[in-house]
Amino acid sequence: MRVDVVTIFPEYLAPLDLSLIGRARAAGILDVAVHDLRTWTSDVHRTVDDTPYGGGPGMVMRPEPWGEALDAVASPDGSPGSEPPHLVVPSPAGVPFTQPLAHALAGESRLIFACGRYEGIDQRVLDYAAERMPVTEVSLGDYVLFGGEVAVLVILEAVVRLLPGVLGNADSLVEESHADGLLEAPVYTKPAQWRDLPVPEVLRSGDHGKIARWRRDQSLLRTAGRRPDLLPALPPQALDKRDRAT
Ligand code: ADE
Repeated sequence: MRVDVVTIFPEYLAPLDLSLIGRARAAGILDVAVHDLRTWTSDVHRTVDDTPYGGGPGMVMRPEPWGEALDAVASPDGSPGSEPPHLVVPSPAGVPFTQPLAHALAGESRLIFACGRYEGIDQRVLDYAAERMPVTEVSLGDYVLFGGEVAVLVILEAVVRLLPGVLGNADSLVEESHADGLLEAPVYTKPAQWRDLPVPEVLRSGDHGKIARWRRDQSLLRTAGRRPDLLPALPPQALDKRDRAT
């Protein structure tokens, strides 16, 4: 996968060199380039923002540098029949970032992230891009960050760990929270007794049927307690009769 990130704070993206993302890059699974938006300004002050039409607080990112940046970064990669990149714009006004969206983005061969700051990017940049490539505005949650950079780190971490060859153990993708629309059951490791707290007996029983049932019940109870909003979204066949009793 090829990823381009356009930002006025390239140094914010330094963590992309670390950990599993850094390893995916070293392994050739992921190719990342971070670009400074100010490269595409033409005035001496390298201005990227201006006051909003219609009034109101804050500043809006000007369309000209963004247009030039996206023209340059999105240009066809030269291979015949290559698909256009998918433009992802982190924004508190976007669609919620979820595991299904992470899977969808992991299926793309090229992603471009446009990091807005201030009150956001002039809407015409996104409208122009949407005529040429898929564009998705993505929100991490119902709160406001200073800008899109940290959101890009979060989105990329969720996407890159789904790329084939990045995680050693593909089973961990099947069992984790949100894989089946439910929160994952609690997990334990040795020692069997820590301070005055034992590991639940069932997990030490060796009875795999009972263990699976216990984990399923814990998943259901956690989800009902912490994220009741997830339950109506489950497809009808996701819960069997025994689940409904829990
Ligand atoms: N930029 C600012 N706030 C954001 C949020 N909640 N999600 C994604 N990008 C953002």
